Amino acid sequence: MFESLIERSPDAIIALMEMAKADPNPDKIDLGVGVYKSADGATPIMQAVKQAEALYHVEETTKTYVSTAGNAAFRRLMTELVLGADHGAVKTGRIASAQGVGGSGALRLCAELLKSANPQTKIWVSTPTWANHEPLIGSVGLNLAKYPYYNKDTMGVDFAEMMSHLEAEAKPGDVVLLHGCCHNPTGADLSTAAWDQIADFMAERKLIPFVDLAYAGLGSGLAQDLYGLHKVIEKSPEVLVAISCSKNFALYKERVGMAMVVAKDPERARIVQSELGLIQRKLVSMPPDHGAALVARILGDADLHKIWFDELNTMQGRIVTLRETLSDALNVQGGEIMSKAVRAQKGMFSMLPLTVSQVERLREEHSIYMTNSARINIAGANLDNIPKLADAILKVL
Ligand code: LMR
Repeated sequence: MFESLIERSPDAIIALMEMAKADPNPDKIDLGVGVYKSADGATPIMQAVKQAEALYHVEETTKTYVSTAGNAAFRRLMTELVLGADHGAVKTGRIASAQGVGGSGALRLCAELLKSANPQTKIWVSTPTWANHEPLIGSVGLNLAKYPYYNKDTMGVDFAEMMSHLEAEAKPGDVVLLHGCCHNPTGADLSTAAWDQIADFMAERKLIPFVDLAYAGLGSGLAQDLYGLHKVIEKSPEVLVAISCSKNFALYKERVGMAMVVAKDPERARIVQSELGLIQRKLVSMPPDHGAALVARILGDADLHKIWFDELNTMQGRIVTLRETLSDALNVQGGEIMSKAVRAQKGMFSMLPLTVSQVERLREEHSIYMTNSARINIAGANLDNIPKLADAILKVL
């Protein structure tokens, strides 16, 4: 049966995670997988989660099935968190949603929904994009196309290129995948002016926005990080959103996410809701509840909500401090572009202008781990090792 299979390498990010773990060097710097780390290098459980877990341990009365769409309180509160309870689409019943197994599960639900609606759907993704976008969306069987996004020389978004490519190539009904904030892997986000422009363009061209919202709150703060999402929903009648709670609730291994769909009208939202239920049933039957129940416990409780929000802002503030410190350390001859970009970029990631062999030298000679594309997770560094990191980067350049 399995004779036709060959041994395959794991996904690059997963392989890097294992490689860094196996390195015995106590001074290694792991800038690989996108998890937040505090000053001591740990990825702590948030206090709000700990407290919600203690309460929920007492309050939970059953482990019976929940539903194909997942935890209803979680879905309502998450919708209110990202859109606001008074948002027109919420008040008029234009939202359909289903809990996903993490942000990846949410992406999968959205991709499957697009396939159900039209198997010929074309999805435009940025160059580069998160390493798992293409396998995940491609394996659903949709057509993938790429739009230019990041200029590795300037380390910024090439917005003019992006727009002219989409203007020339994208057809009404095509879907455009956008990173809501904290672009993965580059850290280069669209400006508010760019969001305004692309939102208008997509509405005029009748392109469907599909927003991957995996890092909300960790870029410039929650309200600012939601600007682009709100803008495309304001302009376009139909929008898909894949939300992750892995990073902003630090619930990585609990796999909590949500697919949220804004439909044209309440009737269409009900139809989409029914389709999402059937898709979920086919994929995993019903999503796991524990992590979603914790998020619901936090968001539904004013005190816990505040504790969580303060912790989220602390993480965001630490990432900004690390960026500023690395930027200062790189601000020497030859490092000027990196210095400026690292300061301006948002969230955990930056993509440095390094070749694969320079990345390998950093790994082999300095025990510094980043993806071969030279994506660094800045939250993996700390104030003590940033001078060493900057030195090593400048040395291999
Ligand atoms: C990352 O990009 O490192 C994270 O989103 C984790 C993952 O699964 O790839």
